Amino acid sequence: MSVTIRLLLFVALVGIVSGKHEEYIGWKSYYVELKSQTQLKTLRTLTSKYEIDALVHPILDREGILIVKPEHQKAFEQEAKAEEIAYRIHVDDIKRHLDHDDRILQKHRRKSMNRSGGRRLPYDSYQEIEVINDYLDYIGETYPNVAKVVDAANSFEGRPIKYVKISTTNFEDESKPIIYIDGGMHGRERISPPPVTWAIHKLVENVTEKDLLERFDWILLPVANPDGYQFTFTTNRLWRKSCSNDQHLLSTVCLGVDLNRNFDFYWNTAGTSDSPCSDTYAGSKPFSEVEARVVRDILHENVHRMAMYVSFHSFGSMILYPWGSGHLPPNAVELREVATVIAEEINKHSIPDFPRYFVGNSALMIGNEVSGDAEDYAYNLGVPLAFTIKLPYPKVTSSLEGYLLDPMYIGQVCRETWEGLIVGARKAGDLFKDKNN
Ligand SMILES: *[C@@H]1O[C@H](CO)[C@@H](O)[C@H](O)[C@H]1NC(C)=O
Ligand SMILES: *[C@@H]1O[C@H](CO)[C@@H](O)[C@H](O)[C@H]1NC(C)=O
Ligand SMILES: [Zn+2]
Repeated sequence: MSVTIRLLLFVALVGIVSGKHEEYIGWKSYYVELKSQTQLKTLRTLTSKYEIDALVHPILDREGILIVKPEHQKAFEQEAKAEEIAYRIHVDDIKRHLDHDDRILQKHRRKSMNRSGGRRLPYDSYQEIEVINDYLDYIGETYPNVAKVVDAANSFEGRPIKYVKISTTNFEDESKPIIYIDGGMHGRERISPPPVTWAIHKLVENVTEKDLLERFDWILLPVANPDGYQFTFTTNRLWRKSCSNDQHLLSTVCLGVDLNRNFDFYWNTAGTSDSPCSDTYAGSKPFSEVEARVVRDILHENVHRMAMYVSFHSFGSMILYPWGSGHLPPNAVELREVATVIAEEINKHSIPDFPRYFVGNSALMIGNEVSGDAEDYAYNLGVPLAFTIKLPYPKVTSSLEGYLLDPMYIGQVCRETWEGLIVGARKAGDLFKDKNN
């Protein structure tokens, strides 16, 4: 199809689509269960053939949830049947469920704004970017001795990209290891900023683990992709990418770049797309996106004493480590050990609604190679421990209400994840000390 025709088609579509979530009418999501490596491979083929979107990545012995567009549902079902891949409907009308999510959010919004006076950050609902940024500024103003807010850059659409540096020694004690955590790299993964702001809360407002402040300096970036995050409130709830429009001729109609494919490490060689209309578009060049450059610059500035990098994503209850190619790096044993310590601690504090955490190499576990992601980039740069943590999605048996994680689970995710970070940081600190002595 020529570019012009595609453009015209797209404009025509946009013309029809107007109400909220209208673009998801007729979309379905499916539970999928995989029994073998062969099925894992087959699924990878189906995924690209039918433009399938994994809401929860299926792995061996753990059901996943796949989103399938109306035009591909029949073919997908037929082929899954032929390959003996077990599937059943999760949600038969995604639009209806997204509308329902909006109503839950609306209900909570009024309540929490009242209770908080719009000041502190509430955890009973997903917050828009201004609320999170206000909270970060409030932390910086209220606790200037430990917390410093950095306005790193403006996003493509001009929103501030803010992170917090937390230190009892003004970041001047070069012997302290640094822990760096980010979230919100993928817009729709709205559960990923709360554990980051919760970590700020636990390191500044309610310190119960003093050693974590004494031993470490912290860098916390709750929303790495403010444009994409806010776009999920205003325009498209399932938006994943940034919102740039300068990458490609088609970028004015198909916005954005997958930030977690935009890093300069085997850039655009696996698990990516050259089409700006794809959810995994890698961009016109490595670090084309200012949002990815902010993460890069934090890593470069601090790598000499960075003990651990954690990037929150969703969903899947998994802790993943390099490489995205499926090869295991030199300290794979250590990576696995620390990931396991974190996973076991989270499991200990989790609830029956959530599956237990699994730990593994990112490509081997999911059956998908990726390139140009932040975790690999950080590790290659020299951060000894780099993890992607995919936060939990409730099991089938739960009284699931919200499609994209009912807000009632936010507090639980924050608390259990923090327990994992406590032990993970301590372990990372011990390993870092051993290595540097
Ligand atoms: C919220 O605050 C407004 C204004 O202060 C007040 O009129 C209203 O009754 C409050 N609503 C609830 C549910 O507390
Ligand atoms: C601080 O955290 C502890 C442990 O999580 C909790 O029991 C306590 O209620 C918190 N205090 C405040 C003031 O939030
Ligand atoms: Zn993600």
